[in-house]
Amino acid sequence: MKKIEQAAQLIDQNKSLFCCPICKGKMRVEKTSVICNSYHQFDLAKKGYINFYSKSSPKDYDKKLFEARYRVIQRGMYDKLHQKIAELIDAIDHRTANILDLGCGEGSHLQKITQQLNRSSIGMGMDIAKDGILTAAKYHQGLTWTVADLVQSPYQSGQFDILLNILSPANYQEFKRLMHTTGHVLKVIPRSAYLQEIREQVMEEEQQVYTNADVLEHFKQHFENLEIHTLQYQWRVPADVLDDLWYMTPLTWGKEMEQPIERITIDLDIIIAQKKLHKAV
Ligand SMILES: C[S@@+](CC[C@H](N)C(=O)[O-])C[C@H]1O[C@@H](n2cnc3c(N)ncnc32)[C@H](O)[C@@H]1O
Ligand SMILES: [Zn+2]
Repeated sequence: MKKIEQAAQLIDQNKSLFCCPICKGKMRVEKTSVICNSYHQFDLAKKGYINFYSKSSPKDYDKKLFEARYRVIQRGMYDKLHQKIAELIDAIDHRTANILDLGCGEGSHLQKITQQLNRSSIGMGMDIAKDGILTAAKYHQGLTWTVADLVQSPYQSGQFDILLNILSPANYQEFKRLMHTTGHVLKVIPRSAYLQEIREQVMEEEQQVYTNADVLEHFKQHFENLEIHTLQYQWRVPADVLDDLWYMTPLTWGKEMEQPIERITIDLDIIIAQKKLHKAV
């Protein structure tokens, strides 16, 4: 079966999770198009993804970056993160989980996390960068890949058990709309030592100081039952992905690596929480 047909079949099986980004109506699949009752039509791309975003993607993340990210992540830079997230998702429940990764980039996080789960799942990844979704559809089968803006996403309200938001921007109103009442959001944010070996080479000393306190504070205004899991380790960089490590982040754009990096520091907080529900007075 061609990639486009596989993608159409997968969307058809899960069409109740989608809604029209224009009128919020229900969607159906006709051949290789997704159509709402008001006839807003979105065609699947040959490469096996669907584009719901009518504007052109921002240019801050490109194909070279996503391909580099793919190779580095596949070599294991975030394996411990994936393992921890899979454990957290498994600990919540054992039913099939509808999982949506918002700002999924080239899709390796979603692929590796869903692969490790002890529960079945339906995995969907969305990103505003077409090059990210193209890369995701190229490498990862069995998951649905969508170009869309997380501010106005093409998914039905209240259908997702797990939202992933890894090193990406967020829109918490939209997140809460998408989450099932018992659903969880897992947001991954950098801590002060994250990628310090890269930042030391490209930033002035005073720019290198980073705290995630504001991000955390903003998050707490929207969610409750919050747990924070800190993950710190150093990853030994295989020589054949050293260049990829340099190109996987926009931090280094236009700059040359001055010194080879042997070990790279991963320093992250995984925040897991539920949406605040309106309580009866
Ligand atoms: C640092 S990258 C992280 C990508 C991926 N989660 C990872 O860790 O490899 C940030 C991602 O957020 C995406 N992004 C930024 N604004 C977005 C928006 N409004 N809607 C969807 N994705 C967005 C970017 O295109 C980019 O892929
Ligand atoms: Zn519509």
